[in-house]
Amino acid sequence: MNSVQIAQGIYDVGVNDWNVRDFHGYSTPTGSTYNAFLIIDEKIALIDTVKKEFAGQLLKNISEIVSPEKIDYVISNHTEMDHTGGLPLIMNHIGQDKPLYCSKMGQKNLAMHFRDSWNYHAVENGEELDLGKRQLTFLETRMLHWPDSMLTYEKADQILFSSDAFGQHYAGYEKFDDQIDRDELLFHSKKYFANIILLYAGQVKKLLKTVTDMGLTFKMICPDHGIIWRKHPELIIDAYAKWSEPIHTKKAVVVYDTMWQSTKMMAEQIAAGIVSEGVNVRPMNLRTNHRSDIMTELLEASALVVGSPTLNNNIYPTVSDFLTYMKGLRPQNKLAACFGSYGWNGASIKILNNELSTMKFNMIDEAGLKIQYVPDEDGLNRCLEYGRTIGKAVCQFVQEQSR
Ligand code: FEO
Repeated sequence: MNSVQIAQGIYDVGVNDWNVRDFHGYSTPTGSTYNAFLIIDEKIALIDTVKKEFAGQLLKNISEIVSPEKIDYVISNHTEMDHTGGLPLIMNHIGQDKPLYCSKMGQKNLAMHFRDSWNYHAVENGEELDLGKRQLTFLETRMLHWPDSMLTYEKADQILFSSDAFGQHYAGYEKFDDQIDRDELLFHSKKYFANIILLYAGQVKKLLKTVTDMGLTFKMICPDHGIIWRKHPELIIDAYAKWSEPIHTKKAVVVYDTMWQSTKMMAEQIAAGIVSEGVNVRPMNLRTNHRSDIMTELLEASALVVGSPTLNNNIYPTVSDFLTYMKGLRPQNKLAACFGSYGWNGASIKILNNELSTMKFNMIDEAGLKIQYVPDEDGLNRCLEYGRTIGKAVCQFVQEQSR
């Protein structure tokens, strides 16, 4: 991708990563972008860089606009290497002594990543940098996404350079929100929230309050990943406000793996029982659904139902993988239930129950539902009834939460 002017004198000089398909455990079937922004004023500033392997492209994009050595300031909003891997090459070209603005934690973290004694300028929260016609304000946003994270606000054009916040893992020739289907854009934003931001929902709420308290308004929000919000920045602000609160819809997600199809049979009957109570349900086999897509479905669901056969006195490895991933993201205030088939030791139910309880899910039924070997007609009816019980619990839960 070449540079794109996003406002008078302000350019996105970042790159498309068409081929990335895994972002620390999150599937990215449409790739991603590493956005970086060049502001040409009386002083010239570069906000963020790109992954190391794209640093040459970043330099080329900058060079189309200005000689890199003319850059006066580099601003690093966040240390993670998808935004700083290109720093060594950039600093080599613009001059190692150029001021590098970052948060205090950013300075510590950058030093531990790159070991270079660059000319760090660790900013205070709210500190400003005068570029001439434009002033930049730095806002600390610890844990959005790392302890070092900060945002940069450009007052004259009311542009928020939001680092990881408000982004999407989406690579395309579209650059702005008015160039892409809105539902598709919100889907990618939701997946990104469910898999990266969810754990930090509390920090999102704090950020949105800070923005309101400071009376900041945005004509444009420029995340470091994906599409820039220039037409309707309020859409993503409103979506973040919604997603950062527990959401309770009449929806359940049934996640499972199966060894000899018995747990699959159970999953499908349980799903049928849930839907018979008027609750939307998504049965998701872990062999055909990526853990990050399940998290996206779970974001607005009220209940998670997990099924695993018992394998060697344990749960299935794929189920364990999913639970580990989900545990890190800490979904809040949801119901749960578990089920599975077994041969001679139904240990999976107890393990699932313990795992989900530890994650503070509200268990609908601690006994779970286990069936030996292959479910017969009576077994399938028990599954259907179990699904109905879950469906009723979801309806009651949604009603209680809406009071
Ligand atoms: Fe896009 Fe936390 O890095």
